[in-house]
Amino acid sequence: MGNNTVTITNNSTGESHEFPLLKGTHGPDVFDIQQLYKTMGLFTYDPGYKSTASCESRITYIDGDKGILLYRGYPIEELSEHSNFLEVSYLIMYGELPNQDEYDKFTFTIKHHSMVHEGFKNFVNGFRRDAHPMSILVGMVGAMSSFYHDSLDITDPLHQEISVHRLLAKLPTLAAMAYKHTHGQPFIYPRNDLSYAENFLHMMYAVPAEEYEIDPLHAKALDVTLLLHADHEQNASTSTVRLAGSSGANPFAAASAGIGCLWGPAHGGANEAVIKMLEEIKTPDNIPKYINKAKDKDDPFRLMGFGHRVYKNYDPRAKIIRNFAKEIVEKLEGNDPLFEIALKLEEIALTDEYFIEKKLYPNVDFYSGIIYKALNIPTSMFTVIFSLGRMIGWMAQWQEMIRDPKRVIGRPRQNYVGPAKRSFVSLDKR
Ligand code: CMC
Repeated sequence: MGNNTVTITNNSTGESHEFPLLKGTHGPDVFDIQQLYKTMGLFTYDPGYKSTASCESRITYIDGDKGILLYRGYPIEELSEHSNFLEVSYLIMYGELPNQDEYDKFTFTIKHHSMVHEGFKNFVNGFRRDAHPMSILVGMVGAMSSFYHDSLDITDPLHQEISVHRLLAKLPTLAAMAYKHTHGQPFIYPRNDLSYAENFLHMMYAVPAEEYEIDPLHAKALDVTLLLHADHEQNASTSTVRLAGSSGANPFAAASAGIGCLWGPAHGGANEAVIKMLEEIKTPDNIPKYINKAKDKDDPFRLMGFGHRVYKNYDPRAKIIRNFAKEIVEKLEGNDPLFEIALKLEEIALTDEYFIEKKLYPNVDFYSGIIYKALNIPTSMFTVIFSLGRMIGWMAQWQEMIRDPKRVIGRPRQNYVGPAKRSFVSLDKR
């Protein structure tokens, strides 16, 4: 038996086989079961992929027990303090921090491809005014494949890069269009002289009748939140992007699938759900009632913004966002009653036996909504902003998969528990 192997014995047949044990840079060893079905005729069963590594990746590492998040090896704390969203986007996409020349070229490219095809106006105007902006975004990003089909050869590295640049550069414009449409206001064109976050705020809030003065603190807060959301290894939406892209679907189609997945309240939709929950709690006196609801097995209610599949410690992104939320609430509004409730709720939950035992800590969504609210962003746009941050992560993961020589279409198997084979019974005999 080799040291770097795992032996599986089927006790019902006595048959044993060795499988290779793979060692990553960090994290648990991974045993490679690719030959399991061929050699032993067995499948593995892991709904929710709690113990399954679906790919090899060089982009992001999370240590959920210690609360560590690294982008290309760099701790999220250092990046959020010293870098900015576009520099981090370059790092995530290309693997290294850019030098000055690379940084200038990249930011120039992203800033100068922010306009979208005029035909998008007609497309967006076709949506109902009360449509959720996430539903508009799913449609618009998917529709990019028809507006920009000159760069859809996924085997061509230049086409891959152009599509990624287009997605990153144009997503804020499309997101702001979704917002303007639901508010009945005219679309505002992007401005290339502004930073990524400033430009988004400009397209959201400027109107033809009046310029919008961008508060640098608003822009900084938004930039940091985007940076903190930029990638998170193989989460549900990223795995969706990889799976959709594994069939050879174009990156716009794969990104649109990712946005659809992100929308769910167990994933990116939680930031919207947190604010709704805090508004429902209303006053700190009501917190114990909601804590009890969350603990009640017969009540489907969960504390939104709490718990994480990977983090069994404080989410490092939540720590950074919490400090930022405090700063921004103090500077912008003085006291925000929702922030007060959030702090109190966190304090009570973190000392409650149920949450301690299950290792349920605040996640990134618990405080991000407080920041968005302070920036006057409506709750329906919260998950849209998560998509803006995550797009670069989705695309870096998509490109890593496309360029992997070992790439195959993603195709899980199942444990079939339906009826056994039987013969058709004609209608008159049923
Ligand atoms: N409130 C109350 N109980 C909870 C919560 C919560 N927020 N989260 C998990 N639990 C309990 C759950 O009932 C289960 O208890 P038991 O073992 O007795 O059945 C136990 O903790 C483990 O939960 P799980 O659902 O098996 O864990 P999971 O890893 O499948 O789910 C989660 C992770 C994030 C879906 C879940 O914690 C949750 O629903 N949280 C609220 C939604 C939320 O904040 N989502 C944002 C995730 S972070 C942003 C992102 O990356 O998308």
